[in-house]
Amino acid sequence: MKRVAVLISGRGSNLGSLIAAQDDSYEIILVISNVAGAAGLERAREAGIATLTIPHAGKIREIFDDELDAALRAADAQIVVLAGFMRILSDDFVRGWEGKLVNIHPSLLPAYRGTKVHERVLAAGEALSGASVHFVVPELDAGPVIAQASVPVHPSDTPEMLAKRVLEVEHRLYPEALQLLANGKVRLEKGLAVFADSITG
Ligand code: GRF
Repeated sequence: MKRVAVLISGRGSNLGSLIAAQDDSYEIILVISNVAGAAGLERAREAGIATLTIPHAGKIREIFDDELDAALRAADAQIVVLAGFMRILSDDFVRGWEGKLVNIHPSLLPAYRGTKVHERVLAAGEALSGASVHFVVPELDAGPVIAQASVPVHPSDTPEMLAKRVLEVEHRLYPEALQLLANGKVRLEKGLAVFADSITG
């Protein structure tokens, strides 16, 4: 059973789905927010999970990241899950958790990295969008993909409508991807996501 820490900044709906899906592969032992009063912290407390707020205001990135790293090491976290965590992490932090750090992004990566994803997807007239769970590497939203799920884009969609449709698949996708990682069925090797079946081949 892998000890998982989840980093959030806001409502924590993905955190909620990860809490609900806990099984014998992983246990969420800590939720950290950089924003005091983030709604996701309350979800964690209700589930009896330890929480911590580490504010980032007024700190240079490396200091904040060192505090984060120390808290994760003190809790013996084995996997770190970013779930709506709105901070860019320093290269040192990312390298320190290489292969154990994952994120969910609301697009079909490598398409639409960065912010304002749904607005850009709609402006481009795409017929398909979705969500991707990926290993985190220093370059933003550029890490190898572990799992993806797609949704249709309708011409009448607003960004909010599309965001809601994508979020629904995120809630199924993230626990499945985390279970793959926690069970050792996928790992990061030489910059690639390598799946267990292809390792034994
Ligand atoms: C999700 O859309 C996720 O893809 C993105 O941030 C949002 C987090 O939502 N990285 P929530 O806090 O899990 O509800």
